[in-house]
This record gives sequence, structure tokens and C-alpha cells, in this order.
Amino acid sequence: MAMKSTLLVTLFALVLLASQAEAQFGSLLGLLNIGGTIFCSANGNAIANSTTPTPTFANALVQISCGGNVISSGLTNGSGVFSIVLNPLQFLLTTLLSSCNLVVASPLSSCNSSLPSTGILQAPLQLAGTVIRGLLSIVNLIPGTFELIGA
Ligand SMILES: *[C@@H]1O[C@H](CO)[C@@H](O)[C@H](O)[C@H]1NC(C)=O
Ligand SMILES: *[C@@H]1O[C@H](CO)[C@@H](O)[C@H](O)[C@H]1NC(C)=O
Ligand SMILES: *[C@@H]1O[C@H](CO)[C@@H](O)[C@H](O)[C@H]1NC(C)=O
Repeated sequence: MAMKSTLLVTLFALVLLASQAEAQFGSLLGLLNIGGTIFCSANGNAIANSTTPTPTFANALVQISCGGNVISSGLTNGSGVFSIVLNPLQFLLTTLLSSCNLVVASPLSSCNSSLPSTGILQAPLQLAGTVIRGLLSIVNLIPGTFELIGA
């Protein structure tokens, strides 16, 4: 009987610890996912109300840049879609939102030779919501409006 209650107390303490850790770190099993589509247009954005869909930018090198430091990068696939996953214990969400940009390091001319070969597309990061998949909590970030910088 005494052993059983010791076990119960231990279990209770463990649950308490786990919930404290969760309150501190958000979720123990969390991911930050930065994703979206890069478009092959003069400003990198989809052309509003266009009758034909805006072409996408395939094989573009996308980087997460924070104060000039690239912290992670990825490539768009054949449909211009990219996804970069970060560990939330390494990168603070508030810092990503306030100090980091999504940068397209490939020049626009590589998707359409009529577009500029200088300058880079840059967009701030925006929160797009959190989804829970089992024990995993995924915070989704998307690029905001792109601008062509330094053309
Ligand atoms: C595009 O269409 C929406 C809804 O029809 C309209 O509100 C918006 O002003 C249009 N934008 C442009 C750039 O024409
Ligand atoms: C690119 O990735 C998106 C999202 O995963 C997928 O829906 C799409 O089919 C992919 N396109 C190609 C050409 O692989
Ligand atoms: C390439 O860009 C030019 C200038 O913006 C545009 O007129 C043309 O339609 C684009 N070509 C393709 C294949 O998207």
C-alpha cells in the first residue's frame, strides 16, 4: 500500500514537471515550419485577379535571414513551393517575426530572362497559425508581401 502511494506521488510529480516544462517551452515536441510559394513576377507576388495563374519560381534558393545572417535555407520545388523547418528551442518565434526576412537568393532572371538579374526578393515573416498533429505542435509561418531590394 505504501509503495503504491509512493508510486502515485512520483507519477503525480512527473506529470507536474512535464506540464511545467510544457508551459515554459510551449510544447516539448514543437516545430516551426516556414513555407509558401515563390512567384516568378516582377515583385515576387502573385498577380492579383490575373486571368492566367502567375507562374511560380522553381528551384529558387530561399533563405531565412536575420540581421544579415542566414540561419537556414531551402529550395523551391517544381511548383515554386518551399518549406523550411526550424527547431523552436533554437529560434524564438518573436525574433523570427520581428528581425528575420525570407530572402530569395536566386535572381528573378533565372525563372524569366525578361526579369531583372540584379536585386533580391525579400518578405517579412507572418504567423499563419498553429496545428497540432498528435504530440507535435507545428507553428506555421508564411512570407508576407515581397519586395525587390537593391535592383
Ligand atoms: C481583385 O478582386 C477583388 C474581388 O473581386 C477586389 O476586391 C480587388 O480590388 C481586386 N484587385 C485588383 C488589384 O484589381
Ligand atoms: C511541390 O510541393 C507541394 C507541397 O508539398 C506539392 O503539393 C507539389 O506537388 C510539389 N510539386 C512538385 C512539382 O514536386
Ligand atoms: C516574363 O516576364 C515578362 C515581363 O514581366 C512578362 O511579360 C512575360 O509574360 C513573362 N514570361 C513568362 C513565361 O511568364
